Amino acid sequence: MIRIVEPTFSEEEKRAVLEIIESHQITRGRWTQTFQEEFARFLGVEHCFTVCSGTVALFIALKALGVDKGDRVIVPAMSFMATIDSVYLACGEPVVVDVDEYFTMDLNQLEDAVKRYSPKVVMPVHLYGGMADMENIMFLADRYGFYVVEDSAQAHGAQLKDKKAGAWGHIGAFSFYASKNVPMGEGGALTTDDPEIARKIKQWIDFGEHPAFNVRITEFQAAIGTLQLRKLKERNERRRAIAKKYTELLSEHFKTPKERPHSYHVYHLYTLMHPERERVVEELGNREIDARVYYTYLLHELRNAEHLPTPNAERFRREVFSIPVHPYLKDQEVELIIGTLLNSVSSGKIV
Ligand SMILES: Cc1ncc(COP(=O)(O)O)c(C=O)c1O
Repeated sequence: MIRIVEPTFSEEEKRAVLEIIESHQITRGRWTQTFQEEFARFLGVEHCFTVCSGTVALFIALKALGVDKGDRVIVPAMSFMATIDSVYLACGEPVVVDVDEYFTMDLNQLEDAVKRYSPKVVMPVHLYGGMADMENIMFLADRYGFYVVEDSAQAHGAQLKDKKAGAWGHIGAFSFYASKNVPMGEGGALTTDDPEIARKIKQWIDFGEHPAFNVRITEFQAAIGTLQLRKLKERNERRRAIAKKYTELLSEHFKTPKERPHSYHVYHLYTLMHPERERVVEELGNREIDARVYYTYLLHELRNAEHLPTPNAERFRREVFSIPVHPYLKDQEVELIIGTLLNSVSSGKIV
């Protein structure tokens, strides 16, 4: 089976885990400190706080920005359910908008929704590893006065112009779940440049002015995350090389993913589209190639949320599927995937 995700570790992770056991410092130690410092430096931000998951990072981000009963939070129609669930958990009211040709928040609709709903927070998602239109979203944030939380769970190292995902908004939220480009098993982080926001985040993490959860990670997770982070650049480059090959050889028959101009896509997932998606995915499965649909649902349908019309997301949802693009794919596996896809549609070109 060619798996769609393949977290891969080496001797140094094993050694680090053993050293932690022997040191008896299994939580709140130097690895957690090191990860926070290295991740902040990697993104070019002042503050990074690790937490136990991406969902918790999104929830704390919203609470730190003051989201409470009735506050509107705008999210895109296509994402993992945690994006919208974090809004409900924070007692906010989500409003769902459509996505653009890059699978990220549609800017024109965003402006309409902002005028209509006066949101406290807008939460773009860098879906599949491709950047949302952060420059214009931040422009609207200044103009209309809302906060921006970037759901960067799928975008470690992605970049638009001179800034990385998680460094554009008031807060960046990350996941280090096992399938992510930086895997810890489970884990998350919040990033910010703003000292006051950093102080508020801390209140949710370190027990402070109000009741809070324990959301810490262990030293094991932090060590694995740190060592994985050090390999991220090289791994993202390999993902991009595989994606380039897919796009070159498949775009005549499939709608292949587009890269936003001036951006660096990190291909957490390589997601393409075909009107006969079910048949194509089945044929991939028959050849032991793990292809999956991310996501079968739209966020407003899943949670019956307030929304604007979402024609793009509705079409994409019927046609999208993702194929393996992880950095440990062998060249022959990439060729097998391409060959299988081309065979599955040999009867006609996409229009
Ligand atoms: C876009 C997005 N947001 C949020 C999350 C939530 O992260 P976690 O699973 O670590 O809670 C994930 C991934 O799982 C995700 O893909």
